[in-house]
Amino acid sequence: MAVKPDSPELSNKYADTLSTVHELIRTRWSPRSFSDRPVSAEDLKAVLEAARWAASSNNEQPWRFVVARKSDGEAYERILSLLDPGNQQWAVTAPVLIIMAAKRTFSHNGSPNIYAIHDTGAALAQLFLQANALGLHAHGMAGFDRERARQVLGIPEDYDLGAAVALGYRDLPEKLTNEKHRKSEVAKRVRKPLDELVFAGRWNEPLTL
Ligand SMILES: Cc1cc2nc3c(=O)[nH]c(=O)nc-3n(C[C@H](O)[C@H](O)[C@H](O)COP(=O)(O)O)c2cc1C
Repeated sequence: MAVKPDSPELSNKYADTLSTVHELIRTRWSPRSFSDRPVSAEDLKAVLEAARWAASSNNEQPWRFVVARKSDGEAYERILSLLDPGNQQWAVTAPVLIIMAAKRTFSHNGSPNIYAIHDTGAALAQLFLQANALGLHAHGMAGFDRERARQVLGIPEDYDLGAAVALGYRDLPEKLTNEKHRKSEVAKRVRKPLDELVFAGRWNEPLTL
């Protein structure tokens, strides 16, 4: 039986933020324990639609998504097989797997788009937040075989490989077979301090807020 998304048994790793931030940002995190409950076509479409409306340099919209649902059988297995073994261990229960790609050049003149991966990351961030708004969670993965993905999925040379993504509903941390993953599922989320990331007008100048 699937655990309800608001069940107290699920670990809720809310961000311990300095300021009040939007609930969708505070409550987004990257779980590994996914239930096999399917994601409806409507919700999957909404998550991808949120990504589609991200901002991008020259409105190029360089992002592309190769999507497979567990019910797609072979297509799902194809993406799963590209993931690193450590990611396969937990992603295997996620009902949706995605591989993202970014078009390297601008469509209007063929010149290099050095912001392609940057903007594709922005689309991924919107995907994460829309997933959260729908009671879903998504987990990005750099750990997959890019070259094999290009071949197996037929991704053209003009596209860089972005992240892989697992999408679905959370399940109990205990369901994870790997101890390291189980621990990480309930561990506190941490971030670098703001003053390490933010400068006032010039590199390394502290910003007082
Ligand atoms: C582009 C990208 C690649 C990632 N690669 C992996 C990965 O291969 N395996 C994994 O378990 N987590 C991966 N993560 C998840 C990060 O480890 C996670 O986002 C980070 O620890 C912060 O945790 P939080 O998302 O729960 O706040 C990735 C996340 C992103 C955005």
